[in-house]
Amino acid sequence: MEKLTSLTRRRGFIYPGSDIYGGMANSWDYGPLGVQLRMNVKDLFWRMFVTSREDMVGMDAAIIMNPKVWEASGHTKNFSDPLVDCKSCHHRYRADHLLEATSAEPEYNTSAPQSLTDIKCPKCGGELTEVRNFNLMFETQVGAVQGEGSTAYLRPETAPGMFTNFKNVVETSRKKIPFGMAQIGKAFRNEITTGNFIFRVREFEQMEVEYFIEEDQWEATFKEWQQIMHDFADALGLDNSKLHDVEISEEERAFYSKRTVDFEYEYPFGQKELWGLVYRTDHDLKAHMDASGQDLTYHDQQTGKRFLPHVIEPSMGLGRTVLAALLSAYTEEEVATAKEGETAKRVVMKFPSVIAPVQVAVLPLSKKDELSKPARELAAKLRKKFRVEYDETQSIGKRYRRQDEIGTPLCVTFDFYSIEDNAVTIRDRDTMEQKRIKIPELETYITEQFS
Ligand code: GAP
Repeated sequence: MEKLTSLTRRRGFIYPGSDIYGGMANSWDYGPLGVQLRMNVKDLFWRMFVTSREDMVGMDAAIIMNPKVWEASGHTKNFSDPLVDCKSCHHRYRADHLLEATSAEPEYNTSAPQSLTDIKCPKCGGELTEVRNFNLMFETQVGAVQGEGSTAYLRPETAPGMFTNFKNVVETSRKKIPFGMAQIGKAFRNEITTGNFIFRVREFEQMEVEYFIEEDQWEATFKEWQQIMHDFADALGLDNSKLHDVEISEEERAFYSKRTVDFEYEYPFGQKELWGLVYRTDHDLKAHMDASGQDLTYHDQQTGKRFLPHVIEPSMGLGRTVLAALLSAYTEEEVATAKEGETAKRVVMKFPSVIAPVQVAVLPLSKKDELSKPARELAAKLRKKFRVEYDETQSIGKRYRRQDEIGTPLCVTFDFYSIEDNAVTIRDRDTMEQKRIKIPELETYITEQFS
């Protein structure tokens, strides 16, 4: 993790939030390469889950919604975590995390930490308070006058915006069940404990799908989405050996869920949730229908049947997806140097080309106009189709290493012969093999490499 966080900071993927003011606990800012990586992941999600499918549409609901939405969905009452404080140092903990922990110090009985009364503060050994529920929604005031009527919330998940728009979308899109909606957007949770880099934060983005079906279709549809999520993981280059489907038991599931599978990833800090897949029954539409008084039933024109659709929900956090993609891509290798018998370590981010922030680097062998001018022109031409970086500083070896470290799949070197033979040398990031390609054939060659 330390190597990764250092690389992501040094190379402009992710910086500590509010850095020049000493930071802001657990907030992170995405730099030039990080924002491009995020965008590529979102584009891939949108293509695989929305635009490549006849049965899916997109949505983008407001972050601040009518507070009645959160009453109906149960968030106002139930969206809370169990909290304890240390009576001595006043440090706060999530009670369930304390019970889960195996190595807290001092005086933490690791062999039998069954009840919280056995547990002392892992920081100072002090006594802990009783457990109380802490609502995770961020409250805010809307409008110029503060008061009871002006309290609103930042959404803690994107899903309710899709349920509340179910009627609108059915009426305007003419989609027939089974069909689904997808949304990408920010969500906010006032988490008691955060940490592990971008794993658990208070402000994050979600990529969610609500797929509407008839009740008897749920088992087959659940399996289909489970497979699609695995296809997405493969396309992102996630390390399959570290990805596990974990069936959540009835006792641990939300009360409305009839089946939940967590996709867990083996992060360096332990195996934890990456994504979730839930069969939510007709719970959400029913709750919003009761609370709003609007008829949210669906009328099947062909069979004449009217019913409340059931829902399968694949839900994915963007930050955790980016973290798993970064960890899966991070590779250290010993490679031969120019000196015979000598090797050196190279760090390579082996991103699939579809998410690599830079896909092609154009590198002139010399900074002189004679090479830099046509190389720049070539970069401009390639930029119309690919994500391209132009780099002319330092030795070619150092430039290759820099591109390896940010995961650029192909480097194109423009040398003194290029002017004569109208060809360039193209180097593959993973094999480090080099090939001479004619410039007019370059675009087709790169497209083939990426397909
Ligand atoms: N609509 C269902 C829902 O929101 P969730 O399991 O609470 O379910 C879905 O959240 C996903 O959002 C998680 O699997 C995770 O990827 C991401 N997520 C949740 N809380 C997060 C946090 N505090 N920081 C980063 N990502 C988070």
